[in-house]
Amino acid sequence: MAAPEFPLETTVGSLALTNPFLLASGPPTASGEQIRHAFRLGWAGAVTKTIVPDTMEILDVSPRFAAWKDEHSGLLGFENIELLSRKDESYWAAEIAAIRKEHPDRVLIASIMASPDPAEWQELACTVQDAGADAIELNVSCPHGMPERGVGAAIGQHADLVGEVTRAVRQVAAVPLIVKLTPNVTDILPVAHAAVDGGADILSAINTVQCLMGIDLETLEPQPAVAGSSTYGGYSGPAVKPIGLRMIAQIARELSIPLMGIGGISRWQDAAEYIAAGASVVQVCTAVMWEGAGIVREMDAGLSGYLAQKYFPDVGALRGRALSRIGTHASLSRSAHRRAAIGYPERCTSCGRCVTACRDGGYHAISIADRRAAIDLDRCDGCSLCSHVCPEGAIVMLPGL
Ligand SMILES: Cc1cc2nc3c(=O)[nH]c(=O)nc-3n(C[C@H](O)[C@H](O)[C@H](O)COP(=O)(O)O)c2cc1C
Repeated sequence: MAAPEFPLETTVGSLALTNPFLLASGPPTASGEQIRHAFRLGWAGAVTKTIVPDTMEILDVSPRFAAWKDEHSGLLGFENIELLSRKDESYWAAEIAAIRKEHPDRVLIASIMASPDPAEWQELACTVQDAGADAIELNVSCPHGMPERGVGAAIGQHADLVGEVTRAVRQVAAVPLIVKLTPNVTDILPVAHAAVDGGADILSAINTVQCLMGIDLETLEPQPAVAGSSTYGGYSGPAVKPIGLRMIAQIARELSIPLMGIGGISRWQDAAEYIAAGASVVQVCTAVMWEGAGIVREMDAGLSGYLAQKYFPDVGALRGRALSRIGTHASLSRSAHRRAAIGYPERCTSCGRCVTACRDGGYHAISIADRRAAIDLDRCDGCSLCSHVCPEGAIVMLPGL
């Protein structure tokens, strides 16, 4: 593996990392062997698949995934109705202790979930902490299966319950405490505040977005169909990135607590955007399931090249750099008007998609003349629809005349 152009060592709270890339809790961290494999490939840290008390029964169904794909760009969105770790506490205690010894420079975070009884959370937190976990992440955000049992998002959707669980674990946790938030709330800020008030050191967001992937029109079975039936599941992958990014930005603007950004990260650019929106580091799940843990190499090289090119001395220098540019709608300029222009006429194939879009969804400002799209500037309202619809990237938005 070629050495990165630029060192990516960074910190999140008191945790020091060799780069800002961690595996999120999920199938890629379901066993100690997978975590070791990821560490060998270059991941700076990993959050275990959520560990539960041995008394909590975890019975998974099959199949438990559904995917929304695009024939050109691959995966768009991914749904899962998977539950938590099926490995017992003693397995995880032994693996955490062993991995800690084998990879002392990597950060191993234990994700935990227990019954609504705070004492159970405390007991489990002590087990993983005593085994050597560098930090504990509280899963109060799983949107399927567990809420029916009064845990997961059933806790994370209520600020008072999040505060209660966080406070309980804080009483026993000597290592950094991370609270993983659910996006399935009207407003994430009261929950974020409750976690901070309860003693969280770091917040991570987001867990999956509750969804129903689709219905097979032949059989009318909702997907993923388990013997013909389904349930609402958790949405992840590229489609949820804008939701995660929004929530990280919202929290970063409101609170000064360190953040781990999660949701739809599959390339270095996604990670850089999360960091510019206020995250210190990022966690990745679906992209690793789809493309393998080796993606960390490209993410590492890409991010370090970007930092060098932009003269950012380190990852921390990028953190939150876009935040001051996010404000209310009313604060946006009304004078910086733009107009559509055929910026790259040689790319125009006169396919007519911009004409149709502008006619039926815009301002009737585009026609085809001399086998090229032509824009009537008097009619163009500067909405930008045509620039997004054009499959060839021929249309650009220029400052208005
Ligand atoms: C199949 C699957 C299983 C998951 N299991 C867990 C889990 O056990 N605990 C947890 O906190 N999050 C779990 N997650 C959520 C991920 O950690 C992550 O928050 C979410 O998938 C968004 O990130 P992504 O778009 O990179 O996948 C799971 C996600 C998937 C796709």
